[in-house]
Amino acid sequence: MKFPYSETVLEHFRNPRNVGQIDNPDGKAIEGSPACGDMVSVYINVDKDTNRLSDIKFESYGCASNIATGSIITELAKGKTLDEAKNITWKQAADALGGLPKLKAHCSVLAIEGLRSAIQNYEERHGLVKEQKPTTVEVVRRRLRKVMNPLTGLSVVRTNLVTDIEVNDGTVRVALDLPSGHQFAPVLKEEVLEKIEPLWDVQKVVVEFSE
Ligand code: FES
Repeated sequence: MKFPYSETVLEHFRNPRNVGQIDNPDGKAIEGSPACGDMVSVYINVDKDTNRLSDIKFESYGCASNIATGSIITELAKGKTLDEAKNITWKQAADALGGLPKLKAHCSVLAIEGLRSAIQNYEERHGLVKEQKPTTVEVVRRRLRKVMNPLTGLSVVRTNLVTDIEVNDGTVRVALDLPSGHQFAPVLKEEVLEKIEPLWDVQKVVVEFSE
């Protein structure tokens, strides 16, 4: 059987650049792919004077294509301004890798979304969000779609683990159909907080468990 990957993909898969974490990063994000349940974490540091990415690292819990795309986009993004980095597309990443099998397009989309979300996280934490739309139940639901249910590898929204969302005067309440003593309860709570707390008009996030 012919190997479906280009030499560049294989090279980046075998020797991925910028793998790891940054301690106390300026921005970070964990993204999950609804297509396959894999995840990627992206960490960034930003030079405040030039607004450029001074450091970027990633960890992939995905496949070879995802590791290779994480490697290439961190290389492409390093030294770029936040706006330039945000505009890197999955197509550019796939082209820089010498192409990816069609079936694997979502793997590079996942890496790109990780990068964009880490930048968004930085902008939200530093009051740099230009478009300040009010947070609604729909906004919260959309963000929670990216949180994976570790029991199934699918989104917590899609698998109905989220039973209720309320947004009231700066407080967001998220109810989960999981007992607080469950082994995944702490990580899920942390992920929900991580996704919702940075929203510009949210002051408090309450995660409620079923018992
Ligand atoms: Fe999940 Fe590639 S198959 S990221």
